[in-house]
Amino acid sequence: MTVVGCVIPAAGRGERLGGPLPKALRTLRGMTLLEHSLRAISAERDVAEIVVAAPVDYVAEIRAVADSSAVSATIRVVPGGAERTDSVRRGIAALRSDPDVILVHDAARPLVPLEVTRRVIAACEGGAPAVVPGVPVTDTVKQVDEAGRVVRTVPRSDLRAIQTPQGFHAEVLAKALEISSETATDDASLVEQLGVPVLVVPGHHDALKVTRPHDLMTAEAILRKRQVDHVR
Ligand code: C5P
Repeated sequence: MTVVGCVIPAAGRGERLGGPLPKALRTLRGMTLLEHSLRAISAERDVAEIVVAAPVDYVAEIRAVADSSAVSATIRVVPGGAERTDSVRRGIAALRSDPDVILVHDAARPLVPLEVTRRVIAACEGGAPAVVPGVPVTDTVKQVDEAGRVVRTVPRSDLRAIQTPQGFHAEVLAKALEISSETATDDASLVEQLGVPVLVVPGHHDALKVTRPHDLMTAEAILRKRQVDHVR
């Protein structure tokens, strides 16, 4: 059986969201974003171990959320780093189960559906060394220079907005993190630098990243709809 471990980088300050607390501790319908994310990921029973990278000055608070969360996976909390990639590095170093597949999931994506996590794990189990969920981009995307002038329009049909959880064969992710001294907004981009192919599987719009206050409103609407659908 494949052993699956998960790292949840949750050490961001959430400056674009505003408010006094780090983003992972902000609540959505009465539950922290972190607990939503823990529940969403551990809905996949194959995930046996989760390491959360916490803001260095909020480790105790993050640990309290992890301890009280209603999830069956073993959860460990470690201090995160200055950049997301540092937090992921620290999280991976704390995994104890020697996983075959490592998922990395943003705490800031609290509503990722189970089907997305399953798709990512299944593709890794099927032999893909690196797998990311993605959705088609609906806006037209233009590259601009410093003066705001358009350099080019990127063909939209070639673009995907990439989400998490991203899944990796453990040795591939370890190598990418070891070799690269760079930081990145996602983990797959470090793997791409190794020349390892990265597969995109369908993501889901519910897996949005909560970045700005508007995203919290969208997430609330998604949760309300889920509750209505559930009682129907
Ligand atoms: O800033 P952004 O929303 O893109 O961050 C994505 C994820 O990475 C969030 O869950 C955030 O908590 C995490 N992060 C981290 N350590 C940092 C910066 C961000 O764990 N230094």
